[in-house]
Amino acid sequence: MSERRLRRALLFMPGDDLKKIIKGAGLGVDSIIMDLEDGVALNNKAAARHTVLQALTSKEIDYGATERLVRVNQPRKGMQAEDVAVTIQGRPDGYVMPKVESAREIQQFSHTLLERELLMGMEVGAIKIMAIIETAKGIVNLREIAQADKRLVALMFGAEDLAGDIGATRTREGKEVYYARSAVVIHAAAFDLQAIDTPFVDLSDLDGLRAETAEALQMGYTGKLAIHPKQVGPIVEVFTPTEAEVEAARRLIEAHDAHQAQGTGVFAYEGRMVDMPMIRAAERVLARAGR
Ligand code: COA
Ligand code: MG
Repeated sequence: MSERRLRRALLFMPGDDLKKIIKGAGLGVDSIIMDLEDGVALNNKAAARHTVLQALTSKEIDYGATERLVRVNQPRKGMQAEDVAVTIQGRPDGYVMPKVESAREIQQFSHTLLERELLMGMEVGAIKIMAIIETAKGIVNLREIAQADKRLVALMFGAEDLAGDIGATRTREGKEVYYARSAVVIHAAAFDLQAIDTPFVDLSDLDGLRAETAEALQMGYTGKLAIHPKQVGPIVEVFTPTEAEVEAARRLIEAHDAHQAQGTGVFAYEGRMVDMPMIRAAERVLARAGR
């Protein structure tokens, strides 16, 4: 993965709800995900594809810097080809694949995108892929999935579907999905992908959302899925370092550079030992700040 676009909050909306897409486009969120999968009823899939295409091509909608993503259906449901055939005409920035369980399905999807890019005279490889890991097989096959394709830029974790798949009961503490949540972020890091945490489904509990987002950040996640506009602010806030954190990171890196220049690898700074892991953490703070 070469691109390092900030993806802190990624807001989902049903692809058949133009009003919500328009609203989502105007919020200044990092990414929006127009859903064709579970957020859309079976008898509304065809209409949803066309609504998404309409939204992507509308001259009236200004997305600003917001990334436009489309979530397609699983390949085995037999709807994915049509999802792409219709929506790619709107040139989305990327696709989100649900319930990914193998590298092969990503590679096949990527090949479909390649054919369309060639056909449409688009830059080859421009369209990104993000994979939601939300089944037991997806977790077990993370190692191959994370290396599947150059288009793959992020792994997303889906706790609700995973719990359903393994027969776990969801709790607020999340112990039942902790191994999986951790596995996703570790595989993302190992293969230079972004890691996006599961959505928080209790819309009325913004403190709970903040706490879960803080936990995601602590674990190494770089962003979190959102399902309602009011979740965007708290998520972005948690993932955005404060001015003081940015300043501290910058000073630490300066001190490190100065010591390196004098041939010193490890040094004491404000009473603590500093070596490479802390420098990398400081660099991550700057990256999260978009610098
Ligand atoms: N994206 C964009 N706008 C949204 C939104 C979303 N995900 N969720 C709500 N809104 C809008 C509403 O349209 C409404 O706009 P208005 O004030 O201009 O009329 C405003 O935000 C307030 O919405 P509210 O009444 O609080 O929510 P709701 O009852 O209309 O919708 C949900 C609740 C859960 C159905 C809705 O938030 C939603 O569709 N979320 C995304 C679901 C989804 O995509 N799931 C699949 C992935 S997990
Ligand atoms: Mg799901």
